[in-house]
Amino acid sequence: MVFKSSKRRFFGFVCILCNVVVVWYIEYHASKKPLLTKDSSFYHGSRKQRNTIVNISREYQDNESGMIGNMNKIIQIMNDKYTKIFHKSTADKVLGTKNVDIQNDYYPFVDFMFVLSDMSPEVNKTQKYLMMVLVNSGAKGDEFRKRREAIRQTWGNRSNCEQRKALGDERLKDLKWLLVFVVGKAGSGTNDDELNMAEARQHNDMLIGNITDNYINNVNKFYMGQVWASTFDIKYTMKTDDDVYVRIPRVLEYLVNAKFPRPFYGGMTYPSIRVNREISGKWTVSWRYYNETHFPRFNPGAFFILSSDLLNKLFNYVCIRKPFHTDDAYVGVAMRDYKVNITRIDSFRVGPRMPKFIRTVKDCEMLRYNAFGDSVDPKSARELHRRLQSHLCSKDTFIKC
Ligand SMILES: *[C@@H]1O[C@H](CO)[C@@H](O)[C@H](O)[C@H]1NC(C)=O
Ligand SMILES: *[C@@H]1O[C@H](CO)[C@@H](O)[C@H](O)[C@H]1NC(C)=O
Ligand SMILES: *[C@@H]1O[C@H](CO)[C@@H](O)[C@H](O)[C@H]1NC(C)=O
Ligand SMILES: *[C@@H]1O[C@H](CO)[C@@H](O)[C@H](O)[C@H]1NC(C)=O
Ligand SMILES: *[C@@H]1O[C@H](CO)[C@@H](O)[C@H](O)[C@H]1NC(C)=O
Ligand SMILES: *[C@@H]1O[C@H](CO)[C@@H](O)[C@H](O)[C@H]1NC(C)=O
Ligand SMILES: *[C@@H]1O[C@H](CO)[C@@H](O)[C@H](O)[C@H]1NC(C)=O
Repeated sequence: MVFKSSKRRFFGFVCILCNVVVVWYIEYHASKKPLLTKDSSFYHGSRKQRNTIVNISREYQDNESGMIGNMNKIIQIMNDKYTKIFHKSTADKVLGTKNVDIQNDYYPFVDFMFVLSDMSPEVNKTQKYLMMVLVNSGAKGDEFRKRREAIRQTWGNRSNCEQRKALGDERLKDLKWLLVFVVGKAGSGTNDDELNMAEARQHNDMLIGNITDNYINNVNKFYMGQVWASTFDIKYTMKTDDDVYVRIPRVLEYLVNAKFPRPFYGGMTYPSIRVNREISGKWTVSWRYYNETHFPRFNPGAFFILSSDLLNKLFNYVCIRKPFHTDDAYVGVAMRDYKVNITRIDSFRVGPRMPKFIRTVKDCEMLRYNAFGDSVDPKSARELHRRLQSHLCSKDTFIKC
């Protein structure tokens, strides 16, 4: 135990040391060029949150001529920093479920790395976006392609009626957003990777990274999406899954009404729940990753919003606590540790039996919600879409709620 705590202190020291070096690196480059963001209307707090370490978006934007080269360098710095602190991790890898020490092993073991996507949408870099919608999706099998297709045809489709209406709304019409699917690799044995790449070329809306597509690696996928988003001039990211339905214009309206809050970590906040410690449970997290009996309140991964000023914190947090696979709880712990308030968005609904809810919910109740999840299969998404569109756009349906 004595050894353990001195080891911890030692790693803490290494972490501080790395931070000092990286802060110096950032400051050095930053001093050569002022911040690019001149539009301060979104910022309500002070800009002085300089305790963060790697300002990816600033580094990236400082060097527009060599963007990719530079981004690789930043990723490398971050991965080096991480491996310095958790370099023993590969030795810590627990295979299978036999002999798991739930106290002292990293279980389930996450081979964490910052990953740059090999394939990403071509986007006009000078365009400002208010929000990037990052939809985590699967790489293996048709099911996920069908889900993505349904999203492109329903809530992700710019020609849908709710979105056309938003273009006529003074407050919303200039608030740009992009929706991007974030996927890993299926690996050999199937042609899924080829199909996914063809899909990415066709729709220009997918990030594909060298991440083995499985549940444990979700957190790597989550970080890949956030890192990519952070290289744009954005104010928010909204992380979702591919089995949800989101009324994007209503989410934008929420942010307008809330006066573009920063820092902001919002979603359908769960109460503080007990951490599962059962070997081979889907949500099990060992004590070594997280040593409290309960998670703090966090926003479930079906959909949550982060303001972009929190992204650097999130990137640097991997040096403080090794990422575990339930990424939504991990983000909640990070935000708690950084003393960021969590905001519950009442119009977000996460619940079991969503398809049944969608079939049976009354119109007025349906219209109260801006996000529905999870387990919204393509058929339910289309059904919900049809109902929403018919109420929002047809001239002769007026419903009083
Ligand atoms: C990081 O850089 C971006 C882009 O230059 C800037 O808008 C943002 O304020 C910076 N963040 C921090 C925490 O300094
Ligand atoms: C900018 O990019 C170029 C080309 O990739 C590279 O040689 C140079 O070192 C980069 N500068 C910074 C400050 O990262
Ligand atoms: C990129 O976006 C900027 C800002 O909206 C715009 O002025 C420019 O024309 C765009 N470039 C292309 C190639 O679309
Ligand atoms: C978006 O919706 C329009 C109108 O329903 C449809 O023609 C188009 O194919 C959809 N886009 C995609 C990418 O599915
Ligand atoms: C993908 O990652 C694996 C292991 O993480 C590595 O062995 C392989 O070379 C990578 N492939 C590419 C194309 O980067
Ligand atoms: C739990 O972990 C924190 C750091 O992550 C450490 O400061 C604390 O002493 C640990 N508590 C116990 C009971 O091990
Ligand atoms: C968090 O919320 C509490 C209560 O609403 C407030 O007093 C506090 O100032 C907030 N903290 C931050 C950092 O915004």
